Amino acid sequence: MNFKLPFVPEQASAAASEVDNLTFFLVGMSTFFTVLIAAMIIFFAIKYRRKSADGVGSSFENSPLLEITWTVIPLLVALFTFAWGLKVFFRLYRPPANAVEYQVTGKQWMWKIQHPTGQREINELHVPIGQPTRLVMTSEDVIHSFFVPAFRVKADVLPGRFTSLWFLPTKAGRYHLFCTEFCGTQHSGMTGWVVVQSPEEYQAWLASAPGPKAPSADGAQLFAQYACNTCHKPGPGGRGPILHGIFGTEVALADGGTVKVDDAYLRESILMPSARIVQGYEPIMPAFQGQISEEAMQQLIEYIKNPPPADAATAGTTPASRGNSR
Ligand code: CUA
Repeated sequence: MNFKLPFVPEQASAAASEVDNLTFFLVGMSTFFTVLIAAMIIFFAIKYRRKSADGVGSSFENSPLLEITWTVIPLLVALFTFAWGLKVFFRLYRPPANAVEYQVTGKQWMWKIQHPTGQREINELHVPIGQPTRLVMTSEDVIHSFFVPAFRVKADVLPGRFTSLWFLPTKAGRYHLFCTEFCGTQHSGMTGWVVVQSPEEYQAWLASAPGPKAPSADGAQLFAQYACNTCHKPGPGGRGPILHGIFGTEVALADGGTVKVDDAYLRESILMPSARIVQGYEPIMPAFQGQISEEAMQQLIEYIKNPPPADAATAGTTPASRGNSR
């Protein structure tokens, strides 16, 4: 069944008509019984009204058949509704095994999305028609909720855990995306679009989108954001060791020992810098314990391991300058 009613959003996913049919059934059934019961109340109120000033009600006999009927019929209707609802529920909450996964992060007040191929976008999600699409979602701050009315899917997006939803887009077009959990002053502006394209258009879009960045590119940004670059640089202002190219090497420590620079040492040095100080430097770096997310930590370490060539040049980390700095 495909109803065309102006108060129902467009149906653009495989699940949309199923959800709508169930909704129409529920509304239809409720309406039928509401009208039936109201009509009977009015009818009986008129038919059995007191007709004379001294009228007295007559006694009545129970009808077991009538009582069984109005118990069994609603029971069957309720069980039927339950079974139908269960079917639609499983359809909505069990993604097919071949669903393609996209990462969604909610943040006051935007949706950040990353494609399985690395492309990122904000407040827009491009997907091809006919591709079972699964969104794995989390929040950076408060509770948000991801809702695409045309697909009839919605799921809360929570900090500190992953939730997911899936859909099979069936129709090309642009569909509204809403946040449906009050998440702060600009909640109402936390909207976007899901753009459903033909597979060819989607491939073209992927090719033209800002390509997947090198894994260390985010780390480079964080390196500047946390002001690491104000001390870990060559020249007179360089109060910390040059980090580019340091990974995998053995460094001498202030206490006379040595340490091999690996992920664990970098991690420790970011969170608790004074634990093992490199020889020739003062323990002046602030501790970042509790201030850096695990994701950011990975990106920073990635950046220290593999600085992009352009950055290495500006940071003066040619082998020669590194030799000079220690
Ligand atoms: Cu995010 Cu409301």
